[in-house]
Formats: sequence, C-alpha cells, structure tokens
Amino acid sequence: MQTTRLHDPVLENDWHAVYLASELKDKPVGVILLGERIALFRNSEGVHALQDLCVHRGAMLSEGWIKGESLVCPYHGWQYDSSGQCVCIPAQPKGERIPPRAKAVAYACEEKYGFIWVCIGEPSGPVPHLEYFANPEYRPLPCGPYHVKAAGTRVVENFTDFAHLMFVHQDLLGHPDYAELPPIEVHKEDGRIYIENIPIFQPVAHSGSDKKEGTTYVYRKEVYRPLSGWLSKTDPSNGQTLWILLTVAPVSADECKVFMMVSRNYGFDVPDENFIKFQDIVFDQDARVIETQKPELLPLDLQAELNHRVDIFSVAYRRWLKELGVVIGTV
Ligand code: FES
Ligand SMILES: [Fe+2]
Repeated sequence: MQTTRLHDPVLENDWHAVYLASELKDKPVGVILLGERIALFRNSEGVHALQDLCVHRGAMLSEGWIKGESLVCPYHGWQYDSSGQCVCIPAQPKGERIPPRAKAVAYACEEKYGFIWVCIGEPSGPVPHLEYFANPEYRPLPCGPYHVKAAGTRVVENFTDFAHLMFVHQDLLGHPDYAELPPIEVHKEDGRIYIENIPIFQPVAHSGSDKKEGTTYVYRKEVYRPLSGWLSKTDPSNGQTLWILLTVAPVSADECKVFMMVSRNYGFDVPDENFIKFQDIVFDQDARVIETQKPELLPLDLQAELNHRVDIFSVAYRRWLKELGVVIGTV
C-alpha cells in the first residue's frame, strides 16, 4: 500500500493512540499514522516504534519478528534494537563493524491507559494525564478501535455534538420528542475547550444502570487536544457516571482509527461485553453519518457551512483548530 507522510507540525508533535496495548504481544505490528508506516514491537524494556522501513532494502520491519530484544527484518535478517540501531547483519563476518548509518528512525512511544501512544515529531508535552484512569472508583475498559473512512476532525466534531443524539442514536441516547437543547456556554482554558451541565433525556438508561426507564443524564464534554476529547454523563439521582475518552489517530487526511475508553463507577457486576457492545452500536451509528459528510475535510471557514446557535461547541472547536494551525483533516 502506497503511503505519503503528511505534514502538520501540530499533529506530528502530538501523541496519538495507535494500538491496543493488550494486543501488542510477541510479534511486531504495522500501523499508519499521518501517512507514515510504523512498526511497533515489545521487548523486555517496553514498547517501541520504528519507521516501518529497513534502511537496507526498504522491507517492512513489521513483517519481521522479534529475537531477544531486537526487531529482525524479514528480508536479510538485520536486527534492530529499540533505538533503531542495527546491531547485527547476519551476512557480515563476525566481529566486523556495523556501519553507524545502519539505523532505523525511532519514534517516541509509550504505553499508557491500555493504549500504545506514538509521536512521530518532537512531543509537545507528555502523554496527557487523564485523572479518571488514576481514580480507583472507576473501571476503565478499552473499546474499538474503529476504522473510519473520514477525517479525524469530523469524528471529534461529532463527539462535541448533542443535537444528533435524538436522531442518529434515536431510542438509545435520545428521543426526537426531547430534541430541544438548553443554552450552551463554551469555556476555554489551558489549551482545552469544554461545556458542562448539559441535561439530555435518554429513553434507555445506560448499560448496568439500576434504572429501568428513561433517565436525564447530565453531560460534560471536553476537547483537550485537536483529536482527543472526553465526556462524562452522570445520573444525578445516584451519581452513576460513565466517562468516555475518544482519541483519534489520523491515518491519512480522510481516514482514521478511533480509540475509546469507557470508564464507569457503577455496574461492576455487569459484564464488560455489554458496555463494549453498546459502544460498538453507538459508534457504528455515528460512523455511518460521518462517512457520508461533504466536504470530507472539516471546513474551518465558518461561512462554509451553516452554523446554528446550537452548534456553539463545534464552532469553538473549528476556531480552535484554526488558531492552532491544524491543517490535516481541515480545509
Ligand atoms: S531489507 Fe532489511 S535486511 Fe535487507
Ligand atoms: Fe454520536
């Protein structure tokens, strides 16, 4: 598959969840981020990301295997350590010096919150701290990843949107008879935008809730990086809270992989599969719409689409992307 590295200083210097940590075992795997092919592998030191390209003859390292601490190229068996340095060329007589130029490009890579995070530029900060994962009252559960043929920016914008819940997720997260939204105020601080205290009536209580009927949940939604956000929905009558992280890896300008973490402070006796299944259904409903949107790339010119007063959070998101200078996934 032909890929071209995309250039976007903001997104290149950002961390992106690219793989489920539990799925990276004793074999390397290949992922694509911003058009760049990346080989991920795990050894006793942890997880590592190398450009998925052997410097010898350009074979894909992710098609190779692990030997000891090294990643072995499947073509002529060159072995790379976690810094990308070639440490063995099998065809070369023992004791001969390995050319220092025999080095694969290594990317910043970390395992956190059940995901493998990669930055292909210079990390603009650490992998964001997500307090709900550190809170022992919550039980985090990875969902997805979901592969979407749409710009990551469209996915995040959908995440900020309330007015679709009653239609796209009709009878699950909303009902057309309760489509009117309260006034919404957007807050912007410390490089994030958020809204809070938004009540939404939902005909079906969430998985594991002890409610049998409809419930009015109170939402908070936040976007803290161009392609990452989280929401919480709380049942104020009992404090049951579901917290959802959404973080999108841009594969190309109009294709992405969506990682989600659903964390709850209730229903621990309810099988995790119920929560995953619910999320799969809801996300599939979103993806069906998102994949049809035109233009495919999110218009940052606010005159390009009709922005209604209720779209205030989405408008703030578009303004913020423009301010930051995000170019991939926008137009
Ligand atoms: S192409 Fe990788 S060892 Fe030759
Ligand atoms: Fe949705």
